[in-house]
Amino acid sequence: MKVMKMKVLDSKIKGSVKISGSKNSSLPIIAASLVSSVKTTLYNVPNISDINNLLKIINKAGCDTSFKNNKLVINNRLNDCELLFDEVKKIRASYYLMSVFIALFGKVTIYYPGGCSLGSRPIDYHLEGFKAAGCVVSEDGNVIKINASKLKPFIYKMERKSLGATVNLIILASKIHGRSVIKNASTEPEIDDLIDFINKGYSKVYRKGSDIIVIGNTNIKDKIKHKVIPDRIECFTYMCIGLTSDKLKIKNINPNHLTLPIYYFKEANANIKVYKNSIVVKRSKLKSITGCSGDYPSLSTDQMPLLYPFFSRVDGISVFTEGIFENRFNVCDELKRKGACINVEKNKVIINGCSDMKSNQLYPKDLRAAASLLIECIIDQKSQLHNLYYLERGYDNIYKKLKKIGLKFELE
Ligand code: EPU
Repeated sequence: MKVMKMKVLDSKIKGSVKISGSKNSSLPIIAASLVSSVKTTLYNVPNISDINNLLKIINKAGCDTSFKNNKLVINNRLNDCELLFDEVKKIRASYYLMSVFIALFGKVTIYYPGGCSLGSRPIDYHLEGFKAAGCVVSEDGNVIKINASKLKPFIYKMERKSLGATVNLIILASKIHGRSVIKNASTEPEIDDLIDFINKGYSKVYRKGSDIIVIGNTNIKDKIKHKVIPDRIECFTYMCIGLTSDKLKIKNINPNHLTLPIYYFKEANANIKVYKNSIVVKRSKLKSITGCSGDYPSLSTDQMPLLYPFFSRVDGISVFTEGIFENRFNVCDELKRKGACINVEKNKVIINGCSDMKSNQLYPKDLRAAASLLIECIIDQKSQLHNLYYLERGYDNIYKKLKKIGLKFELE
């Protein structure tokens, strides 16, 4: 059943929730598996619409996959075809197929990627990096064409850190004979997961310092097995939900990936205890804070909007500076319609906590806005959440997990 709207009936959140594998790790690793010539088995892959859309695209391109109980088996056999399928326009991660096709066939024709609308999301670093590797790039309306008659090892310094461009350039470099270097590369743990995966399989990749990545090849195995790391954004989402709970234990996580978010929780007076592979959060009387999203290990741009519903109600002024995307503020408009005193000035979200917010129909316009407004609906049970397909892009088993921890709701 395709559901569009959620109405929360009652919330007595407590118990425990298991965190699934990372979306932003699984997507690059699925792409990277396609350039190896061996069967790949991935564990802990979240069953979410972004993953299913990527699988649809690679299935249409001739690759056989089976995906059950978070185990994904990829029997890689891609056909040389044009990637002009509708699913390409639906997700951001379809652009990882650029490096895959260039590596395998020396060329690619592909639609511009889709993904959440967060302001302009250029892909110039990807294309500049490909050019450094010997590719010729042309763009025609919504279609990108790349040709590489002869690929060569490259050194490329990104103007600013980009997760997506780092992924694309690692995948391409891992199939070029010789040593390539990416400077000012992304420091996110999802990149380390990709590096681990490639090292298990077909190439040698390592970090030199925190933001230089060196790629050489070859290291061919006959099959690859890999377990994807836990999703730190999903974990943070349940940490926030835990702030409304008697006691919520969040399991199967790596707290080392959440150092700054945990710091902000403590700074805000949150009742939080951190263990080796779990975190326990309880209902808390928060105090206002100042926060900022940025490159890892900073608070992630995906995590920050999840805090706004709480600080809309906390006495005093809280200020959050968005350090990555130019326009990730649609959740603020929705909270403002509810009466929150929340204003956006350039890249700063300024919130003056108040106690008289109204209930409303809430319409998120991206994945993390949907998670943020889900939290708003847990706090204020008279509001209703629409556009649930955004939530389904990135949260594995979301309805089942919410029910298990005591949220009662109806879906329409
Ligand atoms: N940028 C450029 N040129 C480029 C590439 C990036 O100017 O060629 C800029 C972007 O506009 C942005 C910054 O660099 O200002 C960083 O963007 P990045 O490339 O790191 O983001 P992304 O790879 O497009 C991924 C995740 C996002 C997550 C960001 C930041 C996937 C599929 N998407 O996007 O995830 O917010 O990294 O960590 O991995 C989400 O999960 O909700 C989500 C949007």
